[in-house]
Amino acid sequence: MFPADVYLERRKRLAQQVQTGVILLPGHNESPMNYPDNQYPFRQDSSFLYFFGLDSPGLVGVIDVDEGEECVFGDDLTVDDIVWTGPLPTVAQRCHAIGVTQTAPFDQLQTILSKAVDQSRSVHFLPPCRADNVLELQWLLGIAPDRIAVGVSEALIRAVVAQRSVKSPEEIEQIEIAVGITREMHILAMKMTADGLYEMDVAGAMAGVALSRGGRLAFPTIFSIHGETLHNHYHGNKMSRGDIVVNDSGAESSLHYAGDITRTIPVGGKFSRRQKEIYAIVLDAQEKAIEAVRPGVEFRDVHLLACTILVSGLKDLGLIKGDVEEAVAAGAHTLFFQCGLGHMMGLDVHDMEGLGEQYVGYTDTIERNPEFGWKSLRLAKALEPGFVITVEPGLYFIGELIDRWRAAGKCAAFIDYDMVERYRDFGGVRIEDDILVTEGGHRVLGEEIPKTIEEVEDMSSG
Ligand code: GLY
Ligand code: MN
Repeated sequence: MFPADVYLERRKRLAQQVQTGVILLPGHNESPMNYPDNQYPFRQDSSFLYFFGLDSPGLVGVIDVDEGEECVFGDDLTVDDIVWTGPLPTVAQRCHAIGVTQTAPFDQLQTILSKAVDQSRSVHFLPPCRADNVLELQWLLGIAPDRIAVGVSEALIRAVVAQRSVKSPEEIEQIEIAVGITREMHILAMKMTADGLYEMDVAGAMAGVALSRGGRLAFPTIFSIHGETLHNHYHGNKMSRGDIVVNDSGAESSLHYAGDITRTIPVGGKFSRRQKEIYAIVLDAQEKAIEAVRPGVEFRDVHLLACTILVSGLKDLGLIKGDVEEAVAAGAHTLFFQCGLGHMMGLDVHDMEGLGEQYVGYTDTIERNPEFGWKSLRLAKALEPGFVITVEPGLYFIGELIDRWRAAGKCAAFIDYDMVERYRDFGGVRIEDDILVTEGGHRVLGEEIPKTIEEVEDMSSG
């Protein structure tokens, strides 16, 4: 946990931004896997963590902006709880550490909020990502679950996004801790990956690294010889010499800040000539895109730059024909790069995505392009110092997509489908790093992780 002043200051700024009403920030509850007592590992709501810092279930933070009061609602453990889960300081004791002096039992929350509702005061809440929080809001505010989405407070969303987007030095330190653990996971994966092993052998070992460093995985690991499937969470394939594996994985620090790195590893320790060619294009796009990261630059332009480099490289290999800029304008690149170049990262690996990407990655004037490929760009707006983002271009050969585009004659003026067919079983390559936007440009977070063809081959087992 950060010092109490950090949380006090964050809440003070939030109240100033929201200006009036009552801010309601529910934490998460335990979440059962298959019966009530068998629960998923507890993960606190990220905005609750950001403003109230307490990493335990059953708590709700309330800021009465008009009265200048703050209170955490939650129940102390019963003796039965203590018997099964061990002792815990009281809610009041825990709140000392975050500078909150007022606490109350959970069942008083409804009375207080009903009063605010009866007085027609605004009760601001964020979009909940869990169903039990939706039901909790229904109980507290009398809003039907299907009306929660329209009842959320845009003022609160905007205030939270503005604050959480710019990372403080202590947050950057946490992200670098997460990236450090993530680096260990990636180096282990390079060393372990070998002909005859299963993906799950490596994925499991990487999860062990995250757990053994006091954290956990920041998101489900993608470790697959079918890296062309962007979020492939299946780990049951046997790896064979000649395959390439996309390893998109990351750890959380103990304070729940994320790392998110991707490397692509040759099984057997050596890339083939064709793999090297595709890898070199992706690496070039990634390095040049990172170079372009600086305050004021719109990330959609960095995405466009990466797309242009990818297309240019594919043209050199004969998969794309015609003018590169025209091919990108026509969307030809999206046959090979179907997603966005990156996203914000912080307490969530896709930071604040649950609050609405239009608030996190777009503005009133920079709207999402609904075209295939572009619609998956999570971040388009101008970068600011303190943003932490990922830069993760890739090239992916998806058989089903190739077939459909070819049958429809899509972008036929720019795509040599006979050549593309030869790469049908190629798989995918992605390379990703985590970048801090600084006043003067950018800084790649964490110590270097093998990335050039030579570095990856040297680290990989033969
Ligand atoms: N690491 C998975 C993603 O960024 O979508
Ligand atoms: Mn990512």
